[in-house]
Amino acid sequence: MSTETPQTSKRVTTRTLQEMKDAGVPIACLTAYDFLTARLLDDAGIDLILVGDSVSNVFQGNPTTLPVTLDEMIYHTKAVSRIVRRAMVITDLPFMSYQVTTEEAFRSAGRVMKETLAHGVKVEGGRRVAKVVEKISGEGIPTMGHIGLMPQSILKFGGYRPRGTSEAEAEELVDDAMALQEAGAFAIVLEKIPATLGARITESISIPTIGIGAGVQCSGQILVTHDMLGLFEDFRPRFVRRYAALADAMDEAFRQYIQDVKSGHFPNESESY
Ligand code: KIV
Repeated sequence: MSTETPQTSKRVTTRTLQEMKDAGVPIACLTAYDFLTARLLDDAGIDLILVGDSVSNVFQGNPTTLPVTLDEMIYHTKAVSRIVRRAMVITDLPFMSYQVTTEEAFRSAGRVMKETLAHGVKVEGGRRVAKVVEKISGEGIPTMGHIGLMPQSILKFGGYRPRGTSEAEAEELVDDAMALQEAGAFAIVLEKIPATLGARITESISIPTIGIGAGVQCSGQILVTHDMLGLFEDFRPRFVRRYAALADAMDEAFRQYIQDVKSGHFPNESESY
């Protein structure tokens, strides 16, 4: 298996991602909601940046993803997409921006594409949203699916337990993935399902799968950046690997600053005019 992204300096597109799946090159994805994080991710070589509705939890402080609005997603996407040069930028369509009618879903996706420089959108659901995916992607907007654990339905499911653990549920998820592919999705996020099912879905469809807690056999992986940096510590699912402890580093810096100000050690002479 090669680990090189094809065409490394060129813009990542749906075609690049498909080529990566076909060549067995893993696709690296993370979330961003602001220009600075997006620039760091892009410079580091990330393939896809998701302006996720997880912004509701880790930026706005809400208990779920439900409250974030389309206007707010557009605001964050503008901040991200204006700086990104190489990665593909995908925006989550938030709860209630695509569920009522197919026309409204297309209007919401159209607003994202008109008002930001995003390259596509993501919706949660399988067969239930196939018509929506067909409409949006049929109109030329790259559309990503998201099945397994779906945070916008968390209150219905009553918790964050893994999905697809019974054979019946696993079959349903395979059918959902097939339906999304047939509807024109260019990739599918698989969240919190057994690794064996992640592998099975990845083999059953030709488009890339992006796993978050779905095992190493997915075509790519995604994490919420605030989780992998150790910034958001309110809950720690098993699938999050911590690559830094930024909350601890920030806490230390803030305490030191307060102590320096209060003790008269900041600013010193070289920090003054
Ligand atoms: O909103 C988000 O960040 C997501 C990822 C967890 C896939 O949907």
